[in-house]
Amino acid sequence: MKRIAVLTSGGDAPGMNAAIRAVVRTGVTLGCEVYGVHWGYAGLINGEMRELGPRDVGGIIQQGGTILGSARSQEFKTEEGRKKALDNLSMHGIEGLVVIGGNGSQTGAYELHKMGFPVVGVASTIDNDLLGSDITIGVDTALNIALEAIDRLKVTASSHRRAFLVEVMGRDCGYLALMAGIAGGAEAIAIPEIESSPEELARTLREAYERGKTNGIIVVAEGAKHDAEELAQYFKEHQQMLGFELRSTILGHVQRGGAPGAYDRLLGSRLGAAATERLCKGESGILVGMVSGQVVATPHAEIAGRTKSINKDLMKLAETLAR
Ligand code: F6P
Repeated sequence: MKRIAVLTSGGDAPGMNAAIRAVVRTGVTLGCEVYGVHWGYAGLINGEMRELGPRDVGGIIQQGGTILGSARSQEFKTEEGRKKALDNLSMHGIEGLVVIGGNGSQTGAYELHKMGFPVVGVASTIDNDLLGSDITIGVDTALNIALEAIDRLKVTASSHRRAFLVEVMGRDCGYLALMAGIAGGAEAIAIPEIESSPEELARTLREAYERGKTNGIIVVAEGAKHDAEELAQYFKEHQQMLGFELRSTILGHVQRGGAPGAYDRLLGSRLGAAATERLCKGESGILVGMVSGQVVATPHAEIAGRTKSINKDLMKLAETLAR
């Protein structure tokens, strides 16, 4: 291959820049010209791309977000949009594409592959719901940001003998909430994968209060059946049940905006380089991820449109450790 391109798509994730840098420098090392596409699939449709050399990706490994920009393109979901994208790729003489992104982005990559265009994906989303990678780019940093917030909330909660509801991201997946809950020493965790009622959660807080705890943290996944807003309303109406006074915090996009930690810089570097090597060797229709500590490729056909499940046994551990 003489010329390849790289784009970032969907929600940005800390470590995407490390992956872009790895694609550019590995591609150039293998004798390719590398183009960066701005604004994800939307930029592919609008022809927003430019050549990137090794110096253009200097000083970005430590930056959060994505220097290429990202988007959630509705137009790319249509056949017409994808055809425009393919026309632009061929107009620029681009022979292969690396797609750095999560579920929706990898489904888009698979569509291009099925239309005959060589594409390799890189597993990147803070949600960690992508099959084909035990952990995806951005998860570790997002988790550490959530933990820093929880640690701080515990301090102020303890000073006032309060409980806090802390809502974390994850779309329909409870991974971030479960892991942040265990690592942050939460009293309870509410995730979409496991049913929990407001009454049960209130009881858990009450029991923690009666055991002499000075704070109670409930980590709530944004996709949980009863979200933080609904729980806060219920707890407000049943304040006497809790013992603790209650406050709530929604972390939201704060989790996505951080500078990548060592783990995500290394993961982005390794996955970006491996994806480029495979693309340049002529492979296509695969997602490059980390499985059991090894960089591996999984066919898009096996992962597109499906999501990874979480280890529900960890909820028992969270309950035991909250005693
Ligand atoms: O997929 C990453 C993610 O941050 C989810 O956790 C969240 O539900 C969603 O993106 C938010 O999307 P947006 O940035 O488009 O509001």
